[in-house]
Amino acid sequence: MKSGKFITLEGIDGAGKSTQLAWIVELLQQAGLQPVVTREPGGTTLGERVRALLLDKSMTMHAETEALLMFAARREHLDKVILPALQQGQWVISDRFTDASFAYQGGGRGLDQAKLGILEHWVQGGLQPDLTLYFDVPVEIGQQRVRQVKDADRFEQEQAGFFQRVRNAYLDRVRQFPNRIQIIDSSQPLTEVKAAVEQTVQRLLHDA
Ligand code: TYD
Repeated sequence: MKSGKFITLEGIDGAGKSTQLAWIVELLQQAGLQPVVTREPGGTTLGERVRALLLDKSMTMHAETEALLMFAARREHLDKVILPALQQGQWVISDRFTDASFAYQGGGRGLDQAKLGILEHWVQGGLQPDLTLYFDVPVEIGQQRVRQVKDADRFEQEQAGFFQRVRNAYLDRVRQFPNRIQIIDSSQPLTEVKAAVEQTVQRLLHDA
């Protein structure tokens, strides 16, 4: 059986991930695949409950508690959803994965990268996505988009400085993992973002 591929989407809040997620699903379906679409934090019954805690504005927690909850939800997500699907040869697309922990908890909250690395190794061993699309936008654009759409959650209510640190941490990850992470300039017009996404996804399909 052909092996499935694991794709993750990343970006600061308001980078336009959701629109592109739908587009990637469409592209994979056109290629005859039926990808499993999931998200983090979440993706399982337990994970969605943990997500509700993490996004609840009235909840305060230590930055390490936040990181541990992210990885606890991820452990469950790998066990119940991601690994079984990949083992069956299915493609999996996750709206966020571990790069978000390095960006938000590492960059945003200032947590030690080495501690996050230990959790990463504990929870996922050597497993990494086959492809990560990182949607890059200036913080001001991301914040404008979020404010237009909905009530801010616990992360979205953070100030511009927080998102600047998150963005910088994502850009560091792009430099660290140039083969896995593809950067997409999400401040371009939508048609151009879609074209860039299509090119990247077609390349992965071609190599599969
Ligand atoms: P998000 O994916 O942006 O969902 P929505 O589009 O519904 O707002 O929300 C998840 C939030 O969780 C987002 O602000 C980033 C944050 N997050 C972390 O801080 N660390 C992580 O490891 C993950 C997966 C998400």
